[in-house]
Amino acid sequence: MLHFVLNDRELKTTTNPATTLLDFIRYDANLRGTKIGCREGDCGACTVLLGSVENGEIRYENCTSCLTPLANAHGRHVVTIEGLNMSELNKAQEAMVSCSGTQCGFCTPGFVVSLCGYTLNPDTSLSRTAKDAVDGNICRCTGYKSIERAAGQLQEDLDNLGEAITLDALIDKKFIPAYFREIPHLLDQIESEVFIHRGKQPVGGGTDLYVQKQDEMPFMEVVFPFKYQNGTRIWKEGSRCHMAPLCTASDMMKAPFLKESIPNWYEYMKLVSSNPIRNTGTVAGNLVNASPIGDLTAILLALNAEITLKDTADRERSIPLNSFYLDYKKLSKTPEELITRTSFEIPGPGKFNFEKVCKRKYLDIASVNAAALLEENEGVIIRASFSVGGVSPIPLYLRKTSEYVQGRELSESTIMEAAEILQSEISPISDARGSADYKRLLATQLFKAHFLNMFPSQIKMSELI
Ligand SMILES: Cc1cc2nc3c(=O)[nH]c(=O)nc-3n(C[C@H](O)[C@H](O)[C@H](O)COP(=O)(O)OP(=O)(O)OC[C@H]3O[C@@H](n4cnc5c(N)ncnc54)[C@H](O)[C@@H]3O)c2cc1C
Ligand code: FES
Ligand code: FES
Repeated sequence: MLHFVLNDRELKTTTNPATTLLDFIRYDANLRGTKIGCREGDCGACTVLLGSVENGEIRYENCTSCLTPLANAHGRHVVTIEGLNMSELNKAQEAMVSCSGTQCGFCTPGFVVSLCGYTLNPDTSLSRTAKDAVDGNICRCTGYKSIERAAGQLQEDLDNLGEAITLDALIDKKFIPAYFREIPHLLDQIESEVFIHRGKQPVGGGTDLYVQKQDEMPFMEVVFPFKYQNGTRIWKEGSRCHMAPLCTASDMMKAPFLKESIPNWYEYMKLVSSNPIRNTGTVAGNLVNASPIGDLTAILLALNAEITLKDTADRERSIPLNSFYLDYKKLSKTPEELITRTSFEIPGPGKFNFEKVCKRKYLDIASVNAAALLEENEGVIIRASFSVGGVSPIPLYLRKTSEYVQGRELSESTIMEAAEILQSEISPISDARGSADYKRLLATQLFKAHFLNMFPSQIKMSELI
């Protein structure tokens, strides 16, 4: 039995947990403000908020309900556009109206939901603005400038609240309806559940599975192994970062200790999908999906991550991620095994770099991506670890290139020689993301970019041409 709060209503349902949240909202709950656009996570017309209590505080995140299994609503507050309406316009709606941010109106509920979600969790520590919050919403009419202005106006309204952006302040100033006050108490009453794996297709956030198998999912034997798991999803223990199975890309993006040790962390993670997808797509899902261009996979390969797998008899084993990929979508894992932990040694400042080239900068999958972990001491590279995606049937750890570089002088000639070895390790094919030759060129250029970005005073670009 699934148990959650939909807007201001507590709900229990026996509806198939593999149904999409979108279909439940529109056809079971009869709330038609949430729109259907692409059903692939790209347009944001179906955006809703998911609120969960973490460490005693409620946190709201926007998500694409077209890719979210109903099961993932368990224990949470699902907020649709109807749940944000009041007797007068809320602040986000007011901003959209006064800045002419809406024309046909099809995308508007999604934009308003994302903007309201931002007001609930502005994340000032990440220097995000309201504009960043709508990176997963597409509008075909307005040309965006008016929506940008609306986001700017909302940001001003929020800034005027001063330091204390409390739930009470947001309610008093008409950002959100008053019933939000009752939600933490309602969620507290819901039993958390840790579902036992029964050897069926596991579902994390569903952002890969519901794109690949949208029609089959409701009829498949699926299991939500960690459907609703209280507790921290990402944490630091000594010098290592650990991630639970439901750790999302957003959890990684927001981890303060990663931002601290990798100064460009926020910019790197912004290159991964969009807010709503990062909020639901899990790290484990990215690794098991085994896409050769998976961004989190490329990042974690270079960071020499280790994964822990557990089978149905609760037997555990840990392996380096770089031995997980055997062939195209073939993994060193039985179908019964689940990833229960991913961990890596946190690099020091200036030791990690990530590069991604796509047809457009944001909300696009990579033509080629690449990550590097490098450490230098007195002109010698004492640690080197490289990954590259999009140039092989598997997400590629560049074993020979890494071995070659480690222990050598930090110089342009080392980089040029290593780039030759890199070329021998890759086998790109021509496809919609570029020709094989173009990807070969990109792989080399991104490899050089690691050094230029990490050692700008020691490596000269003119010597790498
Ligand atoms: C619009 C859009 C944009 C995207 N952009 C990017 C992008 O820029 N970069 C990028 O890398 N990816 C991108 N993705 C892909 C996707 O969001 C990620 O791969 C995400 O991390 C997948 O996680 P998930 O939890 O949603 O996976 P799911 O769809 O739930 O699962 C994927 C696979 O992992 C398995 N699985 C899930 N959890 C476990 C577990 N704990 N143990 C064992 N198996 C498990 C499932 O059985 C399934 O085979 C995008 C997707 C969409 C829809
Ligand atoms: S319908 Fe387009 S993102 Fe869901
Ligand atoms: S107003 Fe028409 S799609 Fe945005």
